[in-house]
This record gives sequence, structure tokens and C-alpha cells, in this order.
Amino acid sequence: MSALAAWMLRCRAEVDRDLGAVFSDVWPVGFDEALIYPLTTGGKRIRPALCHAAAQAVLGSEDFKVARSPALAIELVHTYSLVHDDLPAMDDDDERRGRPTVHVAFDEATAVLVGDALLTEAFAVTMRDLPAPTAVRMVEELVRASGHRGMIGGQVADIRGGVEDVDTLLRLHGGKTGGLISCATTTGAIAAVSSTATDVAAALREQADLFETLRSFGMLVGLAFQLADDVLDADEDAEEGGPPNFCKLLGVDETRRRAASLADEAIAMVDGLAAPQRLQDLARFSVERDH
Ligand code: IPE
Ligand code: IPE
Ligand code: MG
Repeated sequence: MSALAAWMLRCRAEVDRDLGAVFSDVWPVGFDEALIYPLTTGGKRIRPALCHAAAQAVLGSEDFKVARSPALAIELVHTYSLVHDDLPAMDDDDERRGRPTVHVAFDEATAVLVGDALLTEAFAVTMRDLPAPTAVRMVEELVRASGHRGMIGGQVADIRGGVEDVDTLLRLHGGKTGGLISCATTTGAIAAVSSTATDVAAALREQADLFETLRSFGMLVGLAFQLADDVLDADEDAEEGGPPNFCKLLGVDETRRRAASLADEAIAMVDGLAAPQRLQDLARFSVERDH
């Protein structure tokens, strides 16, 4: 097993343990089963991995406690987005990760409410155990990434359809996929800076450029991840008239080439950080993965 694969397994174990503890005292009795279901169907956990790796790259040491709150919160928002995305009103998918989707395993109203509860809880989780200036900043970042400026805007553009050029498709996925992925790397850096600062508010102001570098890195990785996703799905997406994707607009080879070049650009951008290797390996993994 590669060093990255072993680290990702450790990271997943940390995230899964924390996710398992988010929902206690769930009412009414039985709702916990539906709430926990989409958190236990085996996602890649790439967003928490990027959040932890960004924190570790900035700090120069490995400590999974530092970015625990944003890493967890972002995975909660990601999970909610998938639960709602699969609903009959959206993509109407019966299966995700080889398992029945939430509205199939339970029912549609439950799936809507599970998504609502995951999203709502994410805002409490992202502030957990953090000093007040950091907590406020985490919420701002999560709002920007998840709402109409980010993921929701991208989803609306996707549902509306009619995107026929590469630049508009990049903008759509910059919101839909890039929003949360760049939030993961930015908040990882914010958590790292806060963890060593005595005057947290001043440190957050002083490190504005660092946060913007991590945001740009995350956006490039998010887009590269999406282009790689389109290459992985190229066969099943090939039919005429389906939704637009990069392979249809650019061809599979050019899409693969652009994904690699976005990842290269991202990798170069974080070279100057204290310990960038893991973060750079994840950028490479985003385009070289097989699922
Ligand atoms: C799927 O994301 C949706 C996209 C934004 C492409 P992931 O590929 O990260 O999904 P899981 O969590 O690993 O299933
Ligand atoms: C998933 O989008 C939801 C979000 C990224 C918000 P897609 O519809 O593109 O991805 P899959 O194919 O369902 O995983
Ligand atoms: Mg979908």
C-alpha cells in the first residue's frame, strides 16, 4: 500500500469515528437510522482528507485534531448534497455507492429531512472547540461554499441545463464541486493558523494571502477532480442529449490532459508550504483515482 493510501485510511478512520458521534439524542426515535445511513455507505472522504492535509501542510506536522471540526462539517454538507441530489425532483437516482439511496431505503420526505438535518448540524460542528474568531470565519467559509455563491449556484445551473461551452461548465463545477473542495483546503489552513496563534483574530488577518492560496489550490483540485470524474463516467455518459460534461465538449483525451494540467498547477502553487507533500499527493490522487 502506498504511503498516501495508508494515510487516507488513517484519516478515514478519524473522520468515520467522529461522524458516528455527531448524532446523539436523536428524536423522534428511529430517525437516527435514516440520519446515519448516508454517512455509513462508504464515500471516499476526499474533502476531509484535503482539509486535514491542508492543515498539516501549513503546520508542518501531523495532527488530526487541528482541522477536525471543518473536516467533519464539510463531509456533512457533502453528504446532505448527495442525499438531495439523488431525490426524484433532482437526479432521481435509486442507487449511490452501490446501495439504495436514502429516499429508496426510507422515503422521500425522510430523505429531504435527513439532508436538512445534516446541513443544519454542520454549522454547529464547524464551530466546535474553536476560538470565537475562528468559529465565525469557519461559518462564513461554509456559507460561501455551500450556498448560492457556491454549491447551490452550481446545482441550479446544472438542473436548468443548456450549458454548451467549456467556460460556463467550468463556472458551474467551480460552484458545485469546487466550492466545498476549496472550502476544505481553506478551512484546513485557517484551523492550522488559529491553532498556534496567541492573537487569533490578528493571525487570521495577517495570513489572508495564505488562505487565498489554499482556496485557489482547492478550486483547481476541485475542477481537476470533476474533469477526472467525467473521464471515469465517459462510457455511461456518452449518450446523445444527456447533461453536458467535459468529455462531450472536449473529448476524453483532452479532458484527461486538462485534468492533469489543473492538478500540476495546483501542486506548484503550494510548494512553499511547510510540508506540502501529502496535499500534493492528494491533488494527484484526485485525477489519477479509479473511482
Ligand atoms: C461525488 O463526490 C459528487 C461530485 C462532486 C463529483 P465524491 O466522488 O467525492 O463522492 P463520494 O463521497 O466519494 O461518494
Ligand atoms: C452531486 O452531483 C451533487 C453535488 C455535487 C452537489 P452529480 O449529480 O454531478 O454527481 P453524482 O453523479 O450524483 O455523484
Ligand atoms: Mg447526481
